[in-house]
Amino acid sequence: MSKNKKLIIANWKLNPNSLKEAKKLFSDIKKTASKTSKIQTVICPPFVYINELNKMYSGHRIEIGAQNVFWENKGKYTGEISPSALKSVGAKYVIVGHSEARALGESNADVNKKVNIVLKTGLKVVLCIGESKRDSQALYLKFLKEELESALSDVPKNHLKNLIITYEPIWAIGKTADDAVSPHQMYEMYIFIKKILTELYGKFSASNVPIIYGGSAEPGNVEELLTQGEVDGFLVGHASLEAQQFNEILKITNSF
Ligand code: PGA
Repeated sequence: MSKNKKLIIANWKLNPNSLKEAKKLFSDIKKTASKTSKIQTVICPPFVYINELNKMYSGHRIEIGAQNVFWENKGKYTGEISPSALKSVGAKYVIVGHSEARALGESNADVNKKVNIVLKTGLKVVLCIGESKRDSQALYLKFLKEELESALSDVPKNHLKNLIITYEPIWAIGKTADDAVSPHQMYEMYIFIKKILTELYGKFSASNVPIIYGGSAEPGNVEELLTQGEVDGFLVGHASLEAQQFNEILKITNSF
């Protein structure tokens, strides 16, 4: 990914329900994503579609990612999927620490193991952090700092080039643009995350880590978040399941 490109990452979650529909959605997005030169588009479908979708596009403007991963590359772990296996079928990115995976039991320690092995395997990590609610004493900032620091424990500086941080407050997921973070709130979070990264890795390394936003990113709010919120891109859930909406997000973002 070129440093100046914005990142638009589609998180399809448990959708669509058939390979046929997944291919249709991918090809409807491809029409726009293959032309938007200022954007790195990443599609994260369910695991089973990764290989097939990867074969449908040979350029670099669209890459494929996974929504989760296991923390070992081999061993007796029935039902799990390793970073090496994902790499072998063409995945380039892995979402780690999504709040929906955390809600199913994934701990900070699990997230940390996943971040490390994915980076060691040579894939990019889309690390999600986010609070469930905000409080007037700003305790949520302490929570976010802990989430970020524990996820990055033992991650060496030379792996930072493959790290993307997503600020994704749980209270904003699956709603509408009006319920999402405000540009001002996003700007504060951008500064906050950069400060923590700077403390951990120094200014130069921290300045190169993209910070994107997730949580009801829609055509209606991406412009203000880009211009006033300082974001480097978006992790898009429900709006990535409608090609028209997703393509609109791509076009708006490409115009900056
Ligand atoms: P949303 O989902 O865009 O539907 O809020 C984002 C996500 O959960 O990654």
